[in-house]
Amino acid sequence: MKFKGLTIGIPKEIMPGENRVAATPETVKKLAAEGAAVLIQEGAGLGAFFKDDEYRASGAVMEKDVGKLFSSSDIILKVKEPMRNEALGKHEVDLMRSGQLLVTFLHPANPSNHDMVRAMAKKGVISLSLDCIPRISRAQSMDALTSMSTVAGYKAIISASSMLPKFMPMVGTAVGMIQPAKVFVVGVGVAGLQALATAKRLGAVTYAADVRPDAAEQAKSLGAKIIDTGIGPADAVGEGGYARHLPENLLLKEREAFKEIIKEIDIVVLSALVPGRLAPILLTEEMVKSMQYGSIIEDISIDQGGNCELTEPGKMVTRHDITINGTKNIPGSVPVTSTFMFAKNILNFVSILVKDGAIAIDMNDEIVKSAIVTFEGKILHEGTLEAMKGIAGGASK
Ligand code: NAI
Repeated sequence: MKFKGLTIGIPKEIMPGENRVAATPETVKKLAAEGAAVLIQEGAGLGAFFKDDEYRASGAVMEKDVGKLFSSSDIILKVKEPMRNEALGKHEVDLMRSGQLLVTFLHPANPSNHDMVRAMAKKGVISLSLDCIPRISRAQSMDALTSMSTVAGYKAIISASSMLPKFMPMVGTAVGMIQPAKVFVVGVGVAGLQALATAKRLGAVTYAADVRPDAAEQAKSLGAKIIDTGIGPADAVGEGGYARHLPENLLLKEREAFKEIIKEIDIVVLSALVPGRLAPILLTEEMVKSMQYGSIIEDISIDQGGNCELTEPGKMVTRHDITINGTKNIPGSVPVTSTFMFAKNILNFVSILVKDGAIAIDMNDEIVKSAIVTFEGKILHEGTLEAMKGIAGGASK
């Protein structure tokens, strides 16, 4: 009974528009079977269509008072980083205490989260961030970032196809053949590949581009026609096989390579990212102007700044008769599937942080070492410390 004697608290997410929740009745059942007492805030699952009664039937206790939920729990599982609870007039970190374990997406290196991370360290909260889980095979079942990318890629196509003023598939009619839509996915990592697969299922003709030859190969196996970026692997592929940040002259070259194809495309999905950097600009205003009227751009790289220079964060805008969707938190708009995957990922992750009914942080475990953010009053996450130093350095100049 791994969790015997431990109380796990699942608060309702407070970020506006966030419908996901960190546990499903299925994961509650598994935690309870391992001896955990599971406390869930009343209504926490409603955004993902899980009713309080379903959680109760799975062994959870529903708690109305979120303050009490935080103070009674040994472990807190959440989707989004701690933020100010306006209804309560308190920050979620203020509800936490020393030695308490928090597992969530923290995005700790992001400057807007630095104060929150510092406050957690000061309090003695043990925090681990799901977005810092390394991409090794043992961690695959815990990799919530990959799960959420899958959702984002799928939803980008569903959203674009529902706005597209034409059919996606080829359809034969009495008045002639309706030609299929053309979809171009730029950056075919997890999200991009899912976008391609979804577009293909809907009957579109698909095109793809990625600077990593492996990614282009995977896109090809999904039936996409590959658009050569003109960038060689020596320039494009860096440490660990990930894409490199490209200098402006190479980005210029890449944009040139997309100039002709972009004129024919109905839906462009932009999902090109470089770890730890702003997303590269791959679509300029001039290129947008050259597109067919009524076409759609889904810029799902927007959390890292966007791949199109006209994308506005969190907004859907029309520029030069092209719809540009910069919606943020796309997984939150498919809450049932995202929650299904997220809850399993977090359950698998928290299971390696507990032993014999106690929180057990094993710094020799590569997954724990990468994902730990605050521990014993200190900030341990290297990327966060570097980002904090960078800002302090910049400020003193
Ligand atoms: P990502 O979200 O960091 O980036 C998306 C894509 O954008 C990447 O394929 C990247 O090559 C591409 N890109 C970057 N700059 C570009 C440019 N200038 N032009 C065109 N494309 C550009 O990537 P994601 O989804 O994190 O996947 C990266 C790799 O990690 C993949 O090979 C994936 O299979 C692997 N992975 C492994 C996992 C595991 O073993 N547990 C889990 C998830 C991913």
